[in-house]
Amino acid sequence: MAKLMLSAFGHGGDYNPDQWLDYPEVLEQDVELMKKAHVNLVSVAIFAWSALEPEEGRYETAWLRKIIDRLYENGISVLLATPSGARPAWMSVKYPEVLRVDKDIRNHHGNRHNHCFSSPVYRQKVHSMNEMLAREFGAHPAVKGWHISNEYSGECRCEYCQQAFRQWLKKRYGTLEEINKRWWTAFWSKTFTDWDQIRSPEANGEMSLTPLKLAWRRFVSDQTLDFIKNEIEPIRRICPDKPVTINTMGFHYHFDYASFADVIDFFGYDSYPYWGSGDDVKTGLDTAFTYDFVRGFGPQNWSLMESVPSQVNWHDTCKLKRPGMHMLSSLQAVAHGSDTVMMFQWRKGRGGPEKFHGAVISHDSSGDTRVFRDVTAVGEALEKLKPALGSKVKSDVALIFDQQNRWALDVAEGPQKDKQYMQTLFEHYRGLKRLGINVDVVRSEADLSAYKLVAAPYLYMLLPGVADKLKDFVSAGGTLVLSYMSGLVDEDDLCFMGGFPGPLKELAGIINTETDALYPYDENGITLDNPPEGMKAGYKSGFMCALINPTTARTVGTYSSDFYKGTPALTVNKYGKGECWYLATRPEQSFLEDFYGMLAGRTNIQRISAALPEGVTVSRRENENTAFTFYMNFTGKPQKVAASGRDMLTGDEISGEYELPVNGILVTEAALGEIC
Ligand code: GLA
Ligand code: ZN
Repeated sequence: MAKLMLSAFGHGGDYNPDQWLDYPEVLEQDVELMKKAHVNLVSVAIFAWSALEPEEGRYETAWLRKIIDRLYENGISVLLATPSGARPAWMSVKYPEVLRVDKDIRNHHGNRHNHCFSSPVYRQKVHSMNEMLAREFGAHPAVKGWHISNEYSGECRCEYCQQAFRQWLKKRYGTLEEINKRWWTAFWSKTFTDWDQIRSPEANGEMSLTPLKLAWRRFVSDQTLDFIKNEIEPIRRICPDKPVTINTMGFHYHFDYASFADVIDFFGYDSYPYWGSGDDVKTGLDTAFTYDFVRGFGPQNWSLMESVPSQVNWHDTCKLKRPGMHMLSSLQAVAHGSDTVMMFQWRKGRGGPEKFHGAVISHDSSGDTRVFRDVTAVGEALEKLKPALGSKVKSDVALIFDQQNRWALDVAEGPQKDKQYMQTLFEHYRGLKRLGINVDVVRSEADLSAYKLVAAPYLYMLLPGVADKLKDFVSAGGTLVLSYMSGLVDEDDLCFMGGFPGPLKELAGIINTETDALYPYDENGITLDNPPEGMKAGYKSGFMCALINPTTARTVGTYSSDFYKGTPALTVNKYGKGECWYLATRPEQSFLEDFYGMLAGRTNIQRISAALPEGVTVSRRENENTAFTFYMNFTGKPQKVAASGRDMLTGDEISGEYELPVNGILVTEAALGEIC
């Protein structure tokens, strides 16, 4: 895998000179202002296909060379984009197959991200374009890496895609007999006798065959990856030393990004939190949750690839960033492992739908604005943080989020229509982060051996090998948390026979016989007669209540009401050298904080900072010798934290109580041996 070689934290963003070719004075001013703002990295030519190939086969690259040369001469590096996120009109008109089909209707030319990911013509056009770009610019010293396309998303249902889907199914299942068996097609006479009978799930077609819906989700993800491989092929061949990245959308629904890790060298993420929308504490945690997830996509540090220095143009209400928030939100990404702070975009366009989207430079072309000063301050701060470049976030704790499990839960009908998987995981994440620790958010197939505590709530579908992995983890001394609706189905949505949680029965030491669903106005609770240290005697719960019979597990808490009052709601089972907890219901937030606090004590998890005020988060990066600790205040009020080390932004030595202002951030540096 090629590495992103940066000599400083990357600072910059999307730069679209192709929109300004008639304004040479603007292009010259850009570079001067970039230097003033401490910008050292820009993503260029993301949507520039029309400028690069104005008519079929005629490539125009002189303008781009001039821009890249000028950037280089001024010490600014480039992530060069491939332009496949949008295509010129001539292509759609001459080759309509490049456009997407939905509900049997082919889209007209327009918008962006409107391409078929199977179309041979589109694949060939993209391949030729990328080959040309790699030959022209691959060796340019300014080019540090390749920004492949832009925010891949969506799906297509044309005949090429239907055929590709059938091929994908053949590869996965081999025979129709196997599909019929694995998909339980005897139900409602769905038995397939010819491959051509299989189509994508769609509103006017098959929507009741849950494994088909799941297979389509997997296919869309895999087919997009296949499209990406085609994009990357000439780049890898011509300049194998330059890394490729894609700008992901984090918890985006369409892809299992973690499965892209063999193809993508480092991952970007585009972050647009709703700062100032009423609850920055929650927004801050939500953002941290996503960053901790994106960090796990690949082994290299991730990149904050887009963020906005002021306001977006597409929230219902587009708030300006409050003073301090640009610094706080930018360094929050660094705190969680990003090696860049990139923005969308460098300069606002004069026209088009994004002309009011925030940018470093507005229509006044001024480098003397509040936004410009905020951006410059981040550039300066990143220079002070340079010793932390390349350092890693290390965690004792992992929370399992699995995209395939999310899809499987969504296609399952019952016991709750709205599965609330993401909200549930967020509650667990929030409970864990309250402890003042780093948390990794990982897929179910991840290597768990380095963790002390793994939370795997709501793991409805067990992919092959996952049950064994969880058992090995606990046997070796790990602590695992499972919950209601765990271990119900295999990778094709077939229920495990012989009692739930299927292959996790012995590990959990319980059998889950039934699962009750609660209306939003229903309430149950967990009663703890002998609460473990740090826990209370009772907590509220709701949403779902699994009815369980312990086999080898010990009951720690029981239901507080309904006909199953007094039966187990929280159990723990010793397994090998470790233990497995089973949380049978969805508890109120304070339970998760107390529960994980109790488990952190039991498992000897070292806290970065104890007793943080709610809404102050902490994250730590480290290299061989040094710990870099980030304290972040999202509460809207000044807050006190206990910290020690050198304040990397001011150079002051800190010891003891430190007051974080509103939207404040403190970054300390201390020798690893000196931190407690
Ligand atoms: C996305 C896209 C950008 C731009 C921004 C606006 O992240 O990648 O091209 O449209 O949104 O917020
Ligand atoms: Zn298609």
